[in-house]
Amino acid sequence: MRIFSGIQPTGEKHFGNYSGGFRQYAATQEEGEAFFCIVDLHSITTAYEPKELHESTLDLAAILFATGLDPDRSTVFVQSHVTAHPEAAWLLSSVASYGQLGRMIQFKEKSERQEFVSAGLFTYPVLMAGDILLYQTDLVPIGDDQKQHLELARDIAERFNHRYGETFKVPEARVPETGGRIMDLQEPERKMSTTDSQAAGKVLITDPPDTIRKKLKSAVTDSGTDVRYAPEEKPGISNLLEIMSVATGEAIPELEARYDSGGYGPFKEDVAEAVVALLDPIRTRYEELRADEPELRGLLARGAEKARETAEPTLEQMYERMGFVRP
Ligand code: TYM
Repeated sequence: MRIFSGIQPTGEKHFGNYSGGFRQYAATQEEGEAFFCIVDLHSITTAYEPKELHESTLDLAAILFATGLDPDRSTVFVQSHVTAHPEAAWLLSSVASYGQLGRMIQFKEKSERQEFVSAGLFTYPVLMAGDILLYQTDLVPIGDDQKQHLELARDIAERFNHRYGETFKVPEARVPETGGRIMDLQEPERKMSTTDSQAAGKVLITDPPDTIRKKLKSAVTDSGTDVRYAPEEKPGISNLLEIMSVATGEAIPELEARYDSGGYGPFKEDVAEAVVALLDPIRTRYEELRADEPELRGLLARGAEKARETAEPTLEQMYERMGFVRP
């Protein structure tokens, strides 16, 4: 089985990314041949600082290994190192529907907030479809917010196959049942987000223990005192239950039974300790890995080579089926 997922290097990665992303990457690498891509080309579609992109690309590589990706099992690489990605995106843009792209929730939300809306922000999901389809991917581990983009990638694959002959596998999404959508700690009606959440609303993977404790202690809770999972009625407590379940691996009903009527205070303290216990060793490993840049770059070079070898035959087939004269 082929597994592929991508993650943006901009901004600091948070607990939501851990839950929908990193955690699933480390688990799925055991199930087949896995490719994980640092999607730097996606990160230029909204305003960004070139210097920061440079640093955060290497930061993210270190986080991917620190959260459990094994370079001997998984191919970890940077998108811009494999030119097949932007090439595939251009070819696929001819079978992507303008109308469907305009209906993408992320495009609508992000474009409303920008003064300058780039063409790249609009075509972003086509690049993402190319990422996935080039690898003849079976399974795409993602969080809930990427489901619509995956549906679009499936539509693009089907349309291409229909028009030019069977070329792509049609991939399936895998979204975790618990923790597929981690919410902002301060505004639990909104998802935890790199760009939209205030500092207090998101726990960063690299936050030191005391910062994590402070953020969870001040997390917004709901009226009442019972610790019960009811996302509509109790969005704050339900989110904390999901966070604790992700951090400890315990099922939500078990947690409800344990904290039932003990009040919010002790529950929140335990959630904080569970998150500290999860993230503290990750942060330590991250710092070690990040300090050795030549080693990181070496791993990424190895990953890019393997990715190129895997993606190029698909790209070649695309060109041939579409009628291009090859050099
Ligand atoms: P990105 O970089 O925004 O997020 C990386 C992963 O984290 C998940 N995620 C969440 N999961 C649970 N709760 C949250 N609050 C939360 N916030 C983010 C995302 O769903 C994602 O799985 N377009 C993609 C990157 C991409 C990609 C791809 C993904 C590019 N090409 C190919 C899969 C396959 C993105 O911006 O993810």
